[in-house]
Amino acid sequence: MGYYVTTPIYYVNGEPHLGHVYTTVAADVLARHMRQRGEDVFFLTGTDEHGEPVAQAAEREGVAPRELADRNAERFKQVAERVNATNDFFIRTSDPEHAAVVTEVVARLKRDGHVYAGTYEGWYCPRCADFKTDAELIEGDRCPVHLIELEREKEDNWFFRLSAFQEPLERLYADRPDWVLPGNRYNEALSFIQGGLRDFSLSRARISWGVPVPWDPEQVVYVWVDALLNYYSALSYAREGEDLRDEFWPATVHLIAKDILKFHAVFWPAILMAAELELPERVFIHGYLLMDDHKMSKSLGNVLDPFKVMDLYGTDALRYYLLREVAFGQDGSISPEGFENRYNTELANEYGNLASRSLAMIERYRDGVVPEARAPAALVAELEGMAAAVCSRLDRVEVSGALDDVWQTVRRLNRFVAEETPWKLAKDPEQADRLDSVLYALAEGLRVVSVLLHPYLPASAERLLAALGREDRSIEGARFGSGAGGARIGELGQLFPKVEAPEPSAAP
Ligand code: MSP
Repeated sequence: MGYYVTTPIYYVNGEPHLGHVYTTVAADVLARHMRQRGEDVFFLTGTDEHGEPVAQAAEREGVAPRELADRNAERFKQVAERVNATNDFFIRTSDPEHAAVVTEVVARLKRDGHVYAGTYEGWYCPRCADFKTDAELIEGDRCPVHLIELEREKEDNWFFRLSAFQEPLERLYADRPDWVLPGNRYNEALSFIQGGLRDFSLSRARISWGVPVPWDPEQVVYVWVDALLNYYSALSYAREGEDLRDEFWPATVHLIAKDILKFHAVFWPAILMAAELELPERVFIHGYLLMDDHKMSKSLGNVLDPFKVMDLYGTDALRYYLLREVAFGQDGSISPEGFENRYNTELANEYGNLASRSLAMIERYRDGVVPEARAPAALVAELEGMAAAVCSRLDRVEVSGALDDVWQTVRRLNRFVAEETPWKLAKDPEQADRLDSVLYALAEGLRVVSVLLHPYLPASAERLLAALGREDRSIEGARFGSGAGGARIGELGQLFPKVEAPEPSAAP
């Protein structure tokens, strides 16, 4: 079985912001790391293009939905490339191949008795593409997320018999306690289920921007059903002439934020059960990036343009900051000050300077050749098991936890330099062996942390590994002390140069 990781598909009613980049970068770290472990990886991201969120935004802008979708899908594609995401495919739900799978699955749901005709009466938020209960509304019948006034709707729809899956879903949660992670989100989803499940509308009559219901073309398939099926449909046409579902279905992990928990942790498994398809192994829910204590979102207007941030500080710095500043799985604030601080103290000093100092010492004291020596045994013992720890963290999707583990080692290596004072050893010919051992350990330490950091800082880690004269990027080779000496050191330059922010507002 391969390793299949997904991000949500993003709505094309707006442009990408850092919140979207966050999930994409986290998924990319998992994908890159698993490739380093020799796994067959498929990494999917893309755009959600149907339904009211997009149709209404297009109307406001006075363009056809497809035009808005084409324009913004391109922006999402570009941002994925710009953050160095190694997605294997970019799905757009307006792809005809996707629509064909939606049609096929929905028809099967109908055939097998999971769908019936009914009348929906209640509240609907077109921006959430979600139905709201009275209790959820805030004062003035407004959506709690978008704060817009909602109208009461009455509509003849096709309904999906979600209530029939109450028991199977409870069983799923009992049998697979880590199918939803972290635990607090598991509890949240489970209590939603235990609160009693109501059938939901599988179709919408008011709009035409969507996949027609196969037996009733007056209606379109509800955008959430259309969207969720992307995870499955993509595998059917991502590679021409191949059906990747055999190798990659069920998905290994869906990454999402908590705003769409209900859809992924309740609706999605029920739809899959009804369609007799296997369930994903895991849904991991990360928290929100906050700015000034509020969720960063287009509707609140407190968004940062990821392109600007990357122009100023580079892609790696942004990737690093997002996964370092906010513990993956929890909410956390980001700020320009926090960014500069991490950039200067951690990336530039702790990692960048460690690298340039170490290479300079190898250059000066050993003519640029890494000594063929052994690292001090105590250090070897201390760093043993680091790669294994990172692997087991990432198996549990602890993306910041794994990064923190590696960073502890970066700091350990800095302390090692301070303890060993190689510049003093260099003055004493009797300490030549010790100096060999210290310089070897530094090159070796940099090699191992850079292999492990590679998924997070692909460009910088690559540069450093190249300067160390190393080819192997595999996790298997990332054992401290296993690398041979003798390599000739190359040019490195500054990994994280000082940045003068032109004006405060341009900084993140
Ligand atoms: N189209 C749906 C998802 C369908 S998936 C089958 C949707 N799109 S969205 O454009 O609103 O993207 C939501 C996702 O973007 C979140 O689940 C999260 O992954 C990411 N984020 C958007 N803003 C974010 C933050 N401020 N913080 C963290 N993640 C954020 O919902």
